[in-house]
Formats: sequence, structure tokens, C-alpha cells
Amino acid sequence: MEYSKKVMEHFAEPHNVGEIPDANGIGEIGNAKCGDIMKMFLKIENDIIVDVKFKTYGCASAIATSSIATDMIKGQPISEALKLTNKAVVEALDGLPAVKIHCSVLAEQAIKAALADYYRRQGIDPEPIVGKIEEHDHDACHI
Ligand code: FES
Repeated sequence: MEYSKKVMEHFAEPHNVGEIPDANGIGEIGNAKCGDIMKMFLKIENDIIVDVKFKTYGCASAIATSSIATDMIKGQPISEALKLTNKAVVEALDGLPAVKIHCSVLAEQAIKAALADYYRRQGIDPEPIVGKIEEHDHDACHI
């Protein structure tokens, strides 16, 4: 399996790893294919993502995609983060092996889940804004 140089760089030294203690949007997503988990923390001020961090049990591809995806949305308005696609993230990494594409979906989905949480905390129904997401169901997770 061949990884691009960018994937290797972001895996070796991932950006934005960790937690944000005063995050106002937190999303957790489980990968249906491999069972790995991704947690995303957002700090949003005036509709701008001022900070973003992630934690994952995912593989190298999940780490690399989250690293670059968080770079791409940091400092951006929410509207830009909502437009971030899995495809754009994979392209920014100069591609991923086909069997690893499912890993890259975690980053996009976790960002959306965190944005949904941000809206929910304000009493706003996130679904019309963020769309439907399959969040991680803790009760179903006993692996
Ligand atoms: Fe699970 Fe890549 S194998 S995230």
C-alpha cells in the first residue's frame, strides 16, 4: 500500500491533536467499517472556528486526514467548514489508497457532528444546517 508524502508527514507529526477544555462544539463519530473512533473539539466565536483539535483511535490515514482537515477549517467561518468534503481532504493529501477512503470520512463526519453539537447547545435544530450524521452510539459500543 502506497501512501503519499503528505500522508506520511501528517501522520508523523499530526497537527491539532488534543482536546479543547472550553470547546463549545464536540462531536464523536464511530467508523462503521473498522470500529475506530474520532472525537472533534471546536471553539467557535462569532461563527468563526477559532480553534479545533481532535483525538482518535483511528489508523494512520484517519490521523493524517484529521490533521489536514482541521488545518483547513481553523480560522474559517462555519459556512466553510460545512462545505469541507471528504474528497477535498483526500485531494489535499495527494490521495489515499482506495481501501483507506473509509478512514478519511471520519474527519468530515466528526467536524459535522461537532457543529451539530454547537447548534444543539444553543437550542437550534442542527439537521437543516448540518444534515444528517450518524453519531457514535456509546451503548452499541462494547468492542
Ligand atoms: Fe479505522 Fe482507518 S482503519 S480509521
